[in-house]
Amino acid sequence: MMTFNNGWQLLMMIASIVLLQASYGHGHRKYQPYTYGEFKTLNCTGDFDGNKGAFKVLRHICDECYNLYGYPYTHIKEECMDDCFQNKRFKNCVAELKMEEKRHEFENHVDFVNNRF
Ligand SMILES: *[C@@H]1O[C@H](CO)[C@@H](O)[C@H](O)[C@H]1NC(C)=O
Repeated sequence: MMTFNNGWQLLMMIASIVLLQASYGHGHRKYQPYTYGEFKTLNCTGDFDGNKGAFKVLRHICDECYNLYGYPYTHIKEECMDDCFQNKRFKNCVAELKMEEKRHEFENHVDFVNNRF
């Protein structure tokens, strides 16, 4: 009969976790959030490294907006990020999150991640 030592069990546990996360993340999105891969998938044409901060802020708005609705309204997040944040849903999200006083700052961020400055 085969016995498993602690090392083997640990390895199996790690493998299960990795597999679980992989299947969870691959429903809609090819890339992990807040990464260069996601930036490119959203068709952002700006420089990722130079605009990481701006991207993080915009990306976070879409997470928070989705949180207002919760599961299963995942399309809210997708719509908010569509065309690298150049869409009506994003503007509505800013309003719904009561962040309109920062609207110009966000518009500048959108210009930067879309290489318009
Ligand atoms: C990115 O651009 C492609 C080609 O124009 C388009 O099909 C796709 O929907 C766009 N994706 C996003 C998230 O804007």
